[in-house]
Amino acid sequence: MKKILITGGAGFIGSHVVRMFVSKYPEYQIYNLDCLTYAGNLENLKDIENSSNYVFIKGDIKDSEFILTLFEKHQFSGVIHLAAESHVDRSIANPMEFVLTNVIGTVNLLNAARWIWKENTTDKLFYHVSTDEVYGSLGDDGIFTEETSYDPRSPYSASKASSDHFVRAYYHTYKLPVVLSNCSNNYGPNQFPEKLIPLCINNIINNNPLPVYGKGENIRDWLYVVDHARAIDAIFNKGKIGETYNIGGHNEWKNIDLIRVLCAIMDNKLERDFGTSEKLITFVSDRAGHDLRYAIDATKIKEELGWLPSLQFEEGLVKTVEWYLQNEDWLKNVTSGSYQKYYHKQYTNRQ
Ligand code: NAD
Ligand code: TYD
Repeated sequence: MKKILITGGAGFIGSHVVRMFVSKYPEYQIYNLDCLTYAGNLENLKDIENSSNYVFIKGDIKDSEFILTLFEKHQFSGVIHLAAESHVDRSIANPMEFVLTNVIGTVNLLNAARWIWKENTTDKLFYHVSTDEVYGSLGDDGIFTEETSYDPRSPYSASKASSDHFVRAYYHTYKLPVVLSNCSNNYGPNQFPEKLIPLCINNIINNNPLPVYGKGENIRDWLYVVDHARAIDAIFNKGKIGETYNIGGHNEWKNIDLIRVLCAIMDNKLERDFGTSEKLITFVSDRAGHDLRYAIDATKIKEELGWLPSLQFEEGLVKTVEWYLQNEDWLKNVTSGSYQKYYHKQYTNRQ
């Protein structure tokens, strides 16, 4: 049986990856390592938690000794590394946490894999999941390819860029078998409501203002989370060692246009008069160093691995809204306690 370690499996994207691997590959033993920060939630995996090929391990990738002992004990043959601090606004407020988890945590995993695998790297793979934000910010034209130079501009993207560089350095220096991917903005069920789409859904449900940074003209390229998980599956099982794959949906939206579509879907689902949710839109002061535009060229993964997104954006948004409305308890649980404090600090005095 192949033993696969997935880090950050209790988070948004990680939980979809864990579910896909546990259900699709009964011949893999899946170990989900997560320290359960505010963003990690085992409720995300309730439906598969009793599967015989699934094990949850609570632990911190910042703890190098713990990580090494874990690799010694289980002798994983594959790693899919998603654990990270992932929110740009939090990285602006507290950059060091991002250095510790995203950079040092990644190097701890690389060291453990290198130590345990030594020269025996046949059938081994270290897969590092990263973001398109490492490429920086685009103007009105242009698109990120795998050859675009790195130009990170937020503490979050700087920490992810640094971790990507370490992963490639271990490939070149120590011949560690690695593969990387850089994906655009994800949306879908189980996303923590500090990120734009679930934050707006939650605020519309509760009739709270929808805080739009600046003029709402920043552009993001959105992909449904299950399509990202499908891409991760394709890369883990068919990707070429040492390569990087960009993942994206060719689906660029100005924030304000996206929020208007979301408002219309919410009015419809909540049976409110058309236009009710839009009235909640509130322009607030901009994010410091706010990247203008991201756009991904996903030609390589399409041509080499045959991956394409499966959902149209509006279809994905409707599915997402339906999930949050059917899981209001999940939303209530994650927005109680420390979320209130975060929200208050982040948005008070911003208007
Ligand atoms: P998330 O914040 O929802 O989840 C992160 C998970 O990592 C949580 O379960 C958390 O508990 C865990 N974690 C954090 N620090 C840890 C530590 N020190 N030790 C062990 N576990 C720890 O993030 P996400 O949005 O699911 O993103 C997952 C990965 O995908 C990240 O590496 C992120 O950079 C990358 N990514 C995200 C997006 C996006 O749009 N969300 C896009 C591209 C790439
Ligand atoms: P976010 O979901 O935080 O993802 P990222 O910053 O990684 O792209 O933000 C998506 C876009 O929405 C980004 O341009 C910032 C903007 N935004 C708002 O306008 N208001 C908000 O309250 C948040 C959280 C984001």
